[in-house]
This record gives sequence, C-alpha cells and structure tokens, in this order.
Amino acid sequence: MNWDNIDTHAKNWVKEAGEKIRSSFDKTLDIRTKSNPNDLVTNIDQEIEQFFIKKVRETFPEHKILGEEGFGDKFESLDGIVWIIDPIDGTMNFVHQQRNFAISLGVYENGVGKIGMIYDVVHDELYHAMSGQGAYMNGEKLPVSEDRTVKEAIIALNATWVMENRRIDHNLLIPLAREVRGTRSYGSAALELVFVATGRLDAYISLRLAPWDVAGGAVIVEELGGKVTNMRGEKLDFLTQDTLLVARPGLHETILRDYLMNGQWEKNSDSE
Ligand code: IPD
Ligand code: CA
Ligand code: CA
Repeated sequence: MNWDNIDTHAKNWVKEAGEKIRSSFDKTLDIRTKSNPNDLVTNIDQEIEQFFIKKVRETFPEHKILGEEGFGDKFESLDGIVWIIDPIDGTMNFVHQQRNFAISLGVYENGVGKIGMIYDVVHDELYHAMSGQGAYMNGEKLPVSEDRTVKEAIIALNATWVMENRRIDHNLLIPLAREVRGTRSYGSAALELVFVATGRLDAYISLRLAPWDVAGGAVIVEELGGKVTNMRGEKLDFLTQDTLLVARPGLHETILRDYLMNGQWEKNSDSE
C-alpha cells in the first residue's frame, strides 16, 4: 500500500475542502436539526462530506468511507481501508461563531489508524500524522507528550457531565474538576483531541462521541505517545459510539485509577 500517495491526496483534499468552507462564510447557510433542536447540520456539512466521498471513490475505488452525514458506506466491520470523516466537527460553532470547528479525517486499515488529519480551517492549521512517522502541524514536527500531574493539568470537559445527566453520576467528575488547574470546553472533539496532542490541553473527557469525532485525532495523539481509550480504559472500536478519555501518558492512568474507578460509574449504558 502506498501510504505516501494516500497521505498526499488526503492533504490536498482537506485543504481544498477548507477553502470551500471559508468561501461559504459570506453565503447564507441552510441550517437544519437532526436528532434534537441543538443537533445542527448545514448544507456545507453535507457538501463537504460528498466532496470527500467523490474524491476517494474516484481515486481509490477499493477504499470505503464512514462519514457522519451518511453519504458513505454501511459498516459491520472495519476490514480493508476505511476513511472516517467528519466534514465539520463543531457544527454549532461553525454556525454561531464561524470558528472553533475542524475537518476531521482518519484513514484506517483493518481498524488500525494509519493517517490522521485535523484541519482548523479558520486558522489554516493542519495537524497531521502518519503512523510511525511523527505528527506535525503545517509540516512542523510536534514534540512527544510527557506526563503532567492532575494539579497542573487543564482538562476539556463539557458542563453537561457535571450536571445531572443520563450517562454518568454527575458527582463523579466533580473531584477531578476541582483538583485540576482549569477546565475548558471548545465544542469540537477533533480540536480538543489535537489540543491534547500539542499540549494546549492535558486531557479531554466525553461521555458520548461517534467514530468520526475521534478517528482522525486519535492517530495524532497516539503518534505523540498520548493515550486514547474509553472511560473504562478500553480501546475504541471506531464502529460504535463510546465514552472517551484522551490524555498525556501517565496522566491518563492517574485519571482512570483515581477518578474514574475503572468504569464503576456508568448508568443506563444501553440507552441514548
Ligand atoms: C460534536 C462536537 C462536540 C461534541 C459532540 C459532537 P459535530 O460534533 O465534536 O464538541 O461534544 O458530541 O457530536 O456534531 O459538531 O460534528
Ligand atoms: Ca463531530
Ligand atoms: Ca460533524
């Protein structure tokens, strides 16, 4: 498999898609809701996903595509080469703020991450990694992640998870939120993952993410030595929704052991 060729095409397409998104800023968006009134999708999310699908199918007809907006293939396994794409991660920010969103792209072979790209479109910052070859931001090599104590850590955590909710006893994360140096919430899982990779954040926790939210960023974080698991400390399968704990090495184990008690907290895990 010529991974350099796949990587070159992926980079060109991500940049081209970013240009399309930037040029949409002065046009009127067609905004709809999906599963609930706060779950937004725009014509641009759909157009960008279709753009990637067309490019991948023309160039690599044997590859498959898993995309958030549902224009790709249906999956029972991740056998073969699969592009996992979120055309706009952070759609609410895209609509309300025109910033703090990203294109997220991961290319997986038999379920193993080979290429990860997160493109912060507004800042023209492309974070990219190929497994075993280091991770980069716009061609500049990123340093490997090192451990950090909980007391010195900034973690990304959505306020939802420290309010009463269906997924977790909200009291559980309060000691962690109290102990860390600071908490943040950017509203784009893809950006929160690369911020852990670059050290702007030390950890990111979420109770419900889809494969396309995580697939691209996971390759970048892991390439730098960071850890990506669910909140039970298990590997993600990139086929189903799951919880997420991403952190610097060391800090990941500390959070799992001292605050998440290895998953003895989950409630209603089968329901939405
Ligand atoms: C969402 C963002 C958000 C996360 C949600 C995701 P979308 O993705 O990543 O930060 O909290 O769970 O669904 O819908 O904007 O692509
Ligand atoms: Ca997303
Ligand atoms: Ca999306």
